[in-house]
Amino acid sequence: MTEWKRTHHCGEVRKTFAGQTITLNGWVNRRRDLGQVIFVDLRDRSGLVQIVLDPEVLGPEQFALAERLRSEFVISVQGIVQERPEGQVNDKMATGEVEIHVSQLSILSEAKTPPFHIHQASDVDEALRLKYRYLHLRSKELQETIMLRHRTVAAVRSYLDGQGFLEIETPLLIRSTPEGARDYIVPSRVHPGEFYALPQSPQLFKQLLMIGGFERYYQMARCFRDEDLRADRQPEFTQIDVEMSFVDRDEVMKTMEDMIIHVLSEVKGVQIESPIPRLSYQEAMDRYGSDKPDTRFAMELVDVTEHLGNSEFRVFADTVSTQGVIKGLNVKGGASFTRRQIDQLSEQAVSMGAKGLMWFAIEESQIRSPIAKFLSEQELDAIRKTLAGEVGDLLLLVAGSYDLVSDVLGRLRLALAKELDLIDENLYNLLWVVDWPLLVYDEEAGRYMAAHHPFTAPLDEDVDLLESDPGKARAKAYDLVLNGVELGGGSIRITSRSLQERMFAALGFSMEEAYDQFGYFLEAFEYGAPPHGGIAFGLDRLIMLLAKRQSIRDVIAFPKTISASDLMIEAPSRVSDRQLDELKISLRD
Ligand code: AMO
Repeated sequence: MTEWKRTHHCGEVRKTFAGQTITLNGWVNRRRDLGQVIFVDLRDRSGLVQIVLDPEVLGPEQFALAERLRSEFVISVQGIVQERPEGQVNDKMATGEVEIHVSQLSILSEAKTPPFHIHQASDVDEALRLKYRYLHLRSKELQETIMLRHRTVAAVRSYLDGQGFLEIETPLLIRSTPEGARDYIVPSRVHPGEFYALPQSPQLFKQLLMIGGFERYYQMARCFRDEDLRADRQPEFTQIDVEMSFVDRDEVMKTMEDMIIHVLSEVKGVQIESPIPRLSYQEAMDRYGSDKPDTRFAMELVDVTEHLGNSEFRVFADTVSTQGVIKGLNVKGGASFTRRQIDQLSEQAVSMGAKGLMWFAIEESQIRSPIAKFLSEQELDAIRKTLAGEVGDLLLLVAGSYDLVSDVLGRLRLALAKELDLIDENLYNLLWVVDWPLLVYDEEAGRYMAAHHPFTAPLDEDVDLLESDPGKARAKAYDLVLNGVELGGGSIRITSRSLQERMFAALGFSMEEAYDQFGYFLEAFEYGAPPHGGIAFGLDRLIMLLAKRQSIRDVIAFPKTISASDLMIEAPSRVSDRQLDELKISLRD
């Protein structure tokens, strides 16, 4: 055996090891010279342990090596485990009761001074951290997150395996389609002038696997979308992608919620009650002003329109006459907000698109509000009662179109919850949002777009709306929301060619266009397509929530920046003229 090979991991050494001679490998986390003796915290992926380098034990030649040690040197040490002397036990370290008295030291690799201290990486500029990602990966936080990611994937795999799912890979070089986000495209050398696209998701392939007879499929699928990036979006990301045959919506949702409950229990020890609550899309918008409500706190939106229909106050009268709504929030205890705080809230509301924010502070003797003088006693009373206002509360109202009011109050609700610290960060609140609209009208494109994707089935009772009132048709779609983040979404699929054609017609595709893009898929329906449905979860988002991180960049080993670059390998990059020639591509200036 190679003489430097480890017998144990740093983080596992305990008092029970005392007296044993062991060999450890790892990085110098920190080195301290205490007079003659050198102490080093040695680090491997299991944790830290203190080693003692004493010239009396090592002898002059080996001790000279010890004096050369610096942070991030990779070393191997052999030595005897000893209990630390009284008073030197470190409660903060799992191995704090012991230290290794080294008799043999080898330097396996020297290290330059790193551009930042591994454990203070979060204080340095993100660009520097990303350039030296392999150094940041050594930090405790990233080590823990990446290990959590591994355990999560392992828990998903074992659950799905137990339920008879098969893991099947689907191609990465596929055909570009016009729906959805922008594709990443890859030029073909063999077919000059033609391009592959990288998949935005394996949607059609997993459906073809159902038509291909596999019945239960899953994949940790890499997906690529060329869209504007945010904290919870990366250009390439991973989905837990699932499809099932011979199922209805309830069966997919039950199987998937059991999977998530299993994962939360395995990796976080959190017990979630089944069934997970369900809200219709409409109810979610009505009550929370969001299609992914954070239900860890209440502060629901309340509609007061019906009580203010006859108001002489212009804002209310105009809103009602233009079919708008007046809705509000009750900020418990908010009557004590300073004028400045209230002004800031109003500015926020205006920046979100509201014409203004009306407020009412409920005090012992009066309702204090700049618009109180324009309202009757009954109107003020109705506002207070409908919003269940009590002394000390601040009631906020916004008037305007339903969509605008929902959006503004939905966002104010979240901002206020953060500011007032209403969110219990230990909660894991799961929620299904169901009965989504099938289509949404896109003003810019001048046509309906699929709210989910074009292969999502309408509710049976809404099928005929496809022609008569497409915007009203609801879908057999479901999203799973965790703490206000969309974790995953899916649907029961259309499995009849004629219904799929009606869907394409509603999307404004001519049949030629539909056949040009999806002919192979429409044809597949004619050879026996089982009823099927599925879902995809954003794995990165799930880990972000489990690891309590703010960005999915923190849970991906090698993430891209907000401008879709990899700063370490410097991608994207130019390619050589020879490569372009082979592809028959010439670049415009
Ligand atoms: P959808 O487009 O809703 O559905 O995607 C499913 C889930 O993937 C995650 N996600 C992302 N995560 C990180 N970065 C991104 N850019 C990104 N985009 C999406 C989200 C989202 O909920 N094929 C369908 C699923 C189906 O119908 O079965 C699909 O891809 O968490």
